[in-house]
Amino acid sequence: MSILSASILGCNAMFLGESIEEAEEAGADFVHVDIMDGVYVKNIAFGPKTVSDIKSFSDTKVEVHLELHNPENYVEMFDQAGADALVFQLGTTANPIRLLKEIRTRGMMAGIALNPADPWENLKHLTDYADYIIMMGVEPGFGNQVFEESVYQKVGELKEFFVSTRRDIPIGADGSVDLERAHKLKALGADWFIVGSAIFSAGSRKDQIAKFRTIIG
Ligand code: DX5
Ligand code: ZN
Repeated sequence: MSILSASILGCNAMFLGESIEEAEEAGADFVHVDIMDGVYVKNIAFGPKTVSDIKSFSDTKVEVHLELHNPENYVEMFDQAGADALVFQLGTTANPIRLLKEIRTRGMMAGIALNPADPWENLKHLTDYADYIIMMGVEPGFGNQVFEESVYQKVGELKEFFVSTRRDIPIGADGSVDLERAHKLKALGADWFIVGSAIFSAGSRKDQIAKFRTIIG
């Protein structure tokens, strides 16, 4: 079964709690929390307290997406806050293998995210240390941007590489994933879907999550 992770950057902050509850009840597997400090991307979003508050009020699993430089400085902080999965951007740390190992040692799932312009080949020597790979469909920083169509080919090629090397590592997509793109990405081998606006801007979030479930399995 595929993973559906609801990105709360797409929520109106006034309704954060009820939006998370609805997403969980409707069958989202994770709540996705983007962490931005205004340096790596020109936006500021969320922090460890957001994660610990979510964990103290619900049983939902939290996926933390570090969109900042030197993610190794924040692993302990988000581990203590209760993160279940920690994803960082390729190229933001000098020692990605060490970081992936540390995330796993702490009991969290370890993910690496590639920007649209990053070739998937840059992952070749990292995949054995990662629990999943995320292909960004947009440049990091904001929700609801224009989806980079070249991501489809990257997902397909990475899937072929995993099949030919007998690796069973989930491939995900984050950024402007809507129902139609989820359908295409699924056909190419993606099985981890991070969705913000397409869930939280919809009239009924529950109906929208149910539609994603039908498509992604
Ligand atoms: C972009 C974030 C995404 C974003 C997804 O920097 O990493 O998680 O919130 O939201 P949508 O689906 O609205 O693009
Ligand atoms: Zn994200």
